[in-house]
Amino acid sequence: DVENGKPAQYLYFGSKLNAADLQNLTVATNGRMDAYPAYGLNTPAEAALAMRHSDGNLSTALVATGSDVKQEANATVTTIHLKDPVYNIKVDLKYRAYKDVDMIEAWTEINNGEKGTVTLTTFASAMLPIRRGDVWMSHLSGTWAAEAQLSHEKLQPGEFVIRNNDGVRNSHTDHAEVMFSLNGKGQENTGAVIGAALAYSGNYKLKTVTDDTEYHYFFAGINEQNSEYHLKKGETFKTPALALTYSNEGLSGASRNFHKWGRKYVLAHGDQERDILLNSWEGVYFDINQKGMDQMMADIHSMGGELFVMDDGWFGKKYPRKRDNTALGDWVVDTEKLPDGIEGLLRDAKKNGVKFGIWIEPEMVNPKSELFEKHPDWAITLPNRKTYYYRNQLVLDLSNPKVQDFVFGVVDNILTENPEVAYFKWDCNSPITNVYSPYLKNKQGQLYIDHVRGIYNVLKRIKDKYPNVPMMLCSGGGARCDYEALKYYTEFWCSDNTDPIERLFIQWGFSQIFPAKAMCAHVTSWNKKTSVKFRTDVASMCKLGFDLGLKELNADEQTFCQNAVANWTRLKKVILDGDQYRLVSPYDGNHMSVMYAAPNKNKAVLYTYDIHPRFGEKLLPVKLQGLDAKKMYKVKEINLMPNSKSNLAANEKTYSGDYLMKVGINAFTTNQAFSRVIELTAE
Ligand code: DGJ
Repeated sequence: DVENGKPAQYLYFGSKLNAADLQNLTVATNGRMDAYPAYGLNTPAEAALAMRHSDGNLSTALVATGSDVKQEANATVTTIHLKDPVYNIKVDLKYRAYKDVDMIEAWTEINNGEKGTVTLTTFASAMLPIRRGDVWMSHLSGTWAAEAQLSHEKLQPGEFVIRNNDGVRNSHTDHAEVMFSLNGKGQENTGAVIGAALAYSGNYKLKTVTDDTEYHYFFAGINEQNSEYHLKKGETFKTPALALTYSNEGLSGASRNFHKWGRKYVLAHGDQERDILLNSWEGVYFDINQKGMDQMMADIHSMGGELFVMDDGWFGKKYPRKRDNTALGDWVVDTEKLPDGIEGLLRDAKKNGVKFGIWIEPEMVNPKSELFEKHPDWAITLPNRKTYYYRNQLVLDLSNPKVQDFVFGVVDNILTENPEVAYFKWDCNSPITNVYSPYLKNKQGQLYIDHVRGIYNVLKRIKDKYPNVPMMLCSGGGARCDYEALKYYTEFWCSDNTDPIERLFIQWGFSQIFPAKAMCAHVTSWNKKTSVKFRTDVASMCKLGFDLGLKELNADEQTFCQNAVANWTRLKKVILDGDQYRLVSPYDGNHMSVMYAAPNKNKAVLYTYDIHPRFGEKLLPVKLQGLDAKKMYKVKEINLMPNSKSNLAANEKTYSGDYLMKVGINAFTTNQAFSRVIELTAE
């Protein structure tokens, strides 16, 4: 609701209304509906914007001066223009509403027209009021090897704050994405849900304030802690976007909105296919050599995959990379390990009929490196204190344009010298520590923000020059993942923990927000107590890959993997581009199930997993979702071990979509770590 001279106010956020009903909406009087509340008049209320004006005054007020709507190919961008009647500050609220996916991106642009610098102390991307009731927040948290664990909290009076202070690894502990279930604790397939994802790769803050009014107030944006922003005269500050969605189909429905939007409008190469890769890390760690790489290339080719990726350990001249304490920064081949260089590896890749990709961690430096010896001032580190080390490394100062050139150069040099390099795995294993930028000098307050801007500058340059090269976003597992970074990366590494039981939880968590197409899941030798089939079936529900070679598999397992790769390749359009329905949560019992349905509902793939069933446990059927009730589907269990038969009662039988959704399939068992992959084909 925009009336000139008054604050712009929220009318409604929810299911689409028709034009006539829209006219009937009025601004709620039992809450504070200002679209972007500023600090200074009603001071006890939470603010989205606060600043110290150039004369030292702390108050800001915003009233509307108009609005406009611009059409884009598949979206409308509405701008609400606000200004402070006393100070020359202009604020534009921006809303990009997509026509073909249920998503609105909201962000804010703050312009300083005062005579001097203004200091922004609070600058949320957006605020959303949510009517009180039985509202629950679902969110992800975790740590190394236990990323994206899902929890649900009922919103109570007070503040619920999720914030990140890491500097770069924005999903290492908490995540900048949440869901609000409006009618009680979040359910996967029923209930009204608001989903919110902040597209930002640095320090963020999500805050839900529940006060004496009848609304909760959700604020999301950059975490301003230790990050005051000095907005120069004439400068405009653009916040990151907050993506907002709404679904009446529960958490799973909100996730599907994120997945569709993510694939179509955000993710790099979102509309393109993905290759099955084998990555060297779990196989050999730092012990890289030409023969070993050659063997792994042959292995992935014989399994039916398309790409081999050489991980950490291939570089360093003066200080060869034998473990994690040297060489970051020195991106030259260690010729002791690889006498024929990258050229030799590309030659072997061609011989083995696969593409070749390479691991880098270009934002970092080990003090034991030639780079650090030459440019100690390129690292974020304190000149006057004993250095604190995290994984023996420091973060390069990307607020410095020269450092941006260097980091861009890491990718550019590799690709200029070896244009056939087909893939990068881009790692990031340390938070910003020893907080001091030699480049920013007396503007240290801008380090966190300018650093992230520096990363985006580099990534933009890479994307412009090499638009077709896929990149994996990795950060000591899944410690960096968000919808801004994913504009530049085709996929991300969910976790170093590849124990398939743990992965069920981790992948369930990430899938709340991110599409399977972006989630790398590899078969490894973690948890050898589980079968290769189980490990492969768990990885097959996302972007399948391997971190283990054929020598670790017996003949039957090798044949199984070849068949599983062939099945996945045949079905990857459905798995990676279809609609995901999370059916049975591993958090609710001893089983898990997810399925994917093709948009035309002619094909679906169902995954069921038994984790640690109890003795004598009563097994419930899995009720499917997203099928056409009227179509008849042939059920077929696939991914079977050689010489074994399916004992699924429904196998090879035909049922209506209606039956499968109402009655379901008895697919669970009382076996430990047992899995099924079931293909459904409309007849
Ligand atoms: C952390 C990553 O998550 C691993 O996959 C591997 O690339 C190591 N870093 C290498 O140091």
